[in-house]
Amino acid sequence: MLLNFLVLGFIVVTQALDVVKPYNNKVVFLPPSDWPSPRTNYARSVLIAQDGADTNVLLATWQNTSPEPPNPWFPVYRSTDLGQTWKPFSNITDTENGWGLRAQPYLYELPIAIGNFSAGTIVASGNSIPPNRTHTRIDVYASADKGRTWNFVSHVALGGRPIAVNGETPVWEPFFFTYEGQLVIYYSDQRDPEAHGQKLVHQVTTDLVNWGPVVDDVANPNPSDRPGMTTIAALPNGKYIMTYEYGGAPEIDFAVYYRISDSPLNFLPSIGHNLNATTGEQAQSSPTVVWTPYGGENGTIVVSANGNKGLWINKQLGAENSPWTLFPTGAAGGYARDLKVLPTSQQIFIVSGGVFGGTANHVSASVVNLP
Ligand SMILES: *[C@@H]1O[C@H](CO)[C@@H](O)[C@H](O)[C@H]1NC(C)=O
Ligand SMILES: *[C@@H]1O[C@H](CO)[C@@H](O)[C@H](O)[C@H]1NC(C)=O
Ligand SMILES: *[C@@H]1O[C@H](CO)[C@@H](O)[C@H](O)[C@H]1NC(C)=O
Ligand SMILES: *[C@@H]1O[C@H](CO)[C@@H](O)[C@H](O)[C@H]1NC(C)=O
Ligand SMILES: *[C@@H]1O[C@H](CO)[C@@H](O)[C@H](O)[C@H]1NC(C)=O
Repeated sequence: MLLNFLVLGFIVVTQALDVVKPYNNKVVFLPPSDWPSPRTNYARSVLIAQDGADTNVLLATWQNTSPEPPNPWFPVYRSTDLGQTWKPFSNITDTENGWGLRAQPYLYELPIAIGNFSAGTIVASGNSIPPNRTHTRIDVYASADKGRTWNFVSHVALGGRPIAVNGETPVWEPFFFTYEGQLVIYYSDQRDPEAHGQKLVHQVTTDLVNWGPVVDDVANPNPSDRPGMTTIAALPNGKYIMTYEYGGAPEIDFAVYYRISDSPLNFLPSIGHNLNATTGEQAQSSPTVVWTPYGGENGTIVVSANGNKGLWINKQLGAENSPWTLFPTGAAGGYARDLKVLPTSQQIFIVSGGVFGGTANHVSASVVNLP
């Protein structure tokens, strides 16, 4: 569909793409063949409604294992055709620790002003880790110009070595969400190793600079459990859905679980439900969740997980015992794929940085039409 805009009395025709023919696995970034494993991983994206004359702009980032030095950074690539073609746009570089930005980036557009940061600011987070792997640190950067330039804003959480084993004390995998005038950052936390090998927590801010206390979201009584990788979506019934992987789950290790809560700040008392399809497929590892108004009176909850290229969908707002169906896609699988609801609301954008390990990874984009 083409949208025509009338600006300032003379006609400026902006060809704004808001729907695209579904496609699979367009290349976002192909790493050089001499890069060490896994080359790329953990892609993330943001859909920006308006950037100057451009509408429906996608930015993507991911973690690179580029040869060092220099310390790694988070690349930002940009697409103005709903993900079919991409160009390098900017880099988010560690300006504070001298460590690099090494893992688990996240991009988010502020829907409201937070402190001195106006609505429309692009915020980025991720894990800063030094070359000698002594620490993990979740930092926040911001861009006032839709991702062209970036400035450091704040440190959120400092953890120990980046080793995903119980008894170690790292922090991992930040995710942003806005609630009641506050920005919330969710992450995985191993800094309470006697009680919880890993748990899921959040902190809130009203100025992007000062962060409140660490609050538990999933903290299992069994200290060997490793719930990880929070993502959250708002539902139209005023509730919120959180998906996470559950290391130590009874169904299968790292089974995907979900919780529903009246408040995204209070998932701790909610019951965790295993997420599997009516046809038997278990969602496993590194989930991400979005909700789209498409698909009937409840819209559709859409979940991606590692280990299956399909998407799990639920048309009953994740209600107790409601069915999840597996919708097959031709999109590349991957460790921690990211989903975005495109403007038509029937179309889901999927970006993948490839699988966990190996040397075949690259970053690819796909668009599917939901049933
Ligand atoms: C990002 O940094 C890399 C390494 O310094 C550089 O080669 C590349 O050109 C930069 N990209 C942009 C868009 O500035
Ligand atoms: C916000 O900006 C004002 C004016 O520049 C400054 O005084 C204040 O310290 C800033 N707030 C924060 C939290 O950085
Ligand atoms: C590890 O690297 C950091 C940052 O470069 C440095 O401050 C620290 O001293 C190093 N630690 C060890 C044990 O080498
Ligand atoms: C599938 O998920 C449901 C709901 O969480 C759960 O009751 C059931 O035990 C799961 N099935 C399997 C085979 O794990
Ligand atoms: C919408 O969701 C509710 C439960 O939340 C369910 O009872 C109802 O059947 C759903 N509607 C449709 C069309 O699936």
